[in-house]
Amino acid sequence: MIAILDFGSQYGQLIARRVREHNVYSRICPAGTPASELAKMPLKGIILSGGPASVYAPGAPKCDEKIFDLDVPILGICYGMQLGCQILGAEITRAVSREYGRATLRMIDRSDLLANLPEETLVWASHGDQVTKLGRNFETLGETKTCPYAAVRHTKKQFYGVQFHPEVSHTPKGDIILKNFLYSICGCAGDWKMSDFVGETIDSVRRQVGDATVICGLSGGVDSSVVASLIHKAIGDQLVCILVDNGLLRRNERQTIVATFRDHFHIDLRVVDWSQQFLAALQGVTEPQQKRKIIGAEFIAAFKSEAAKIPNARFLAQGTLYPDVIESGSKDGNPAANIKLHHNVGGLPAELGFELVEPLRDLFKDEVRLVGEHLGLPEDMVWRHPFPGPGLGVRIVGEVTPERLEVLRAADEILIDEIKAAGLYRQISQALAVLVPVSTVGVMGDERSYESVIALRAVETTDFMTADFSHIPYDVLGLISTRIINEVRGVNRVVYDVSSKPPATIEWE
Ligand code: XMP
Repeated sequence: MIAILDFGSQYGQLIARRVREHNVYSRICPAGTPASELAKMPLKGIILSGGPASVYAPGAPKCDEKIFDLDVPILGICYGMQLGCQILGAEITRAVSREYGRATLRMIDRSDLLANLPEETLVWASHGDQVTKLGRNFETLGETKTCPYAAVRHTKKQFYGVQFHPEVSHTPKGDIILKNFLYSICGCAGDWKMSDFVGETIDSVRRQVGDATVICGLSGGVDSSVVASLIHKAIGDQLVCILVDNGLLRRNERQTIVATFRDHFHIDLRVVDWSQQFLAALQGVTEPQQKRKIIGAEFIAAFKSEAAKIPNARFLAQGTLYPDVIESGSKDGNPAANIKLHHNVGGLPAELGFELVEPLRDLFKDEVRLVGEHLGLPEDMVWRHPFPGPGLGVRIVGEVTPERLEVLRAADEILIDEIKAAGLYRQISQALAVLVPVSTVGVMGDERSYESVIALRAVETTDFMTADFSHIPYDVLGLISTRIINEVRGVNRVVYDVSSKPPATIEWE
């Protein structure tokens, strides 16, 4: 296993998955994790991530210096290199020429970390500080035009540092460097598989919960579905799932979830039909944040009422993923976190006083999908587009009413069916229909009509933080539009949203 000490790098999250892509298990740990704790792990190596701070600034994050006595190789990347070098006696200062973007790395020593690389290669750098004086026992492995110590090695400790980022795709040979570190330097076997993750996670869930009952809010989305089936594999009947029907689900969604989890996996699934309460609370409300607040509060009320019926429930399982950890962690002082009130990450546990079980905390979405496939979840479920916790409630701009919900459900079903029929579903990251609170004039037969507008939105993205609109072929858009206008009563116009994120968001509210 490789421990990644996280100093808050914007690329830090990538390192973990790059390591796993080389079939080596990795876990992200807080920057200051004590060496004694790391020593308890089956550790083969440590990576110190980059980070935005300056190593000499007051309060800059540090690692426990004893990690250099653990007798495992350590690779410092960017800030991680500067920190490691500083601890081992080098001098770091503000660089005369800062390096942002591409640089050419020229090799000086290709015996270990930089083995199998050409004389020169492009690397991606992003730093204002750099090592300006190497201490004793350091050797230089590579340099760039403005950075004389772009890659270094300590001859007594097993420490390596690179001032650039081997984990990003803009460093085309970065993979070779990581491979050299993992396989040749750390001696990792490279035989870790997702199935190992499943086995290890099952063991750790069993150890964590003992014979207590775990409850899990199931939404039918990929994350909660994978969590539920993983935990069910670990503890069987000790798991109770709760599905809150908020009345804002897509057509047949509740039935599909029940069929999969209750009938197919034989999981104890309790459905709370709270749709009347949600719709009553939303009556007359049009302000988006207000709608989200109401939906969040009703969700907690529904969940609480059902959870109270389950004796011995001590744990709450959640489908928190690594990007959620990053985003919720950055809430303080990050204005981006206040753009929308996401109701499903955080909030719930503190209120209810459960201990958390979060087996997917270290994974990215596509890795969760691999776990889902491994657990035998239906393909449709594993490859589902994300669906927001507040459901169709945030896709109806304006007031949510039963009639408007029916219009949107019908349009949504056609959109998804046609995207699947055109073979585009997997290429598109998320597709949705929005009911716009505008009526426009049309002509149907010889009659004038004055009906609603449906907006279609489809985006392509890997992280859902930035996204581009999907270039769906016109004939597919045309077919979707014709079907919606012909089949959905109350709609006479369909438009396609061609905004990217930012500045638009993916959902309309
Ligand atoms: P935005 O609209 O912020 O959406 O660009 C980014 C991704 O998050 C989803 N989303 C939510 N997911 N609870 C969720 O579970 C929420 O409250 C929520 N709001 C937006 C959205 O569908 C997209 O995938």
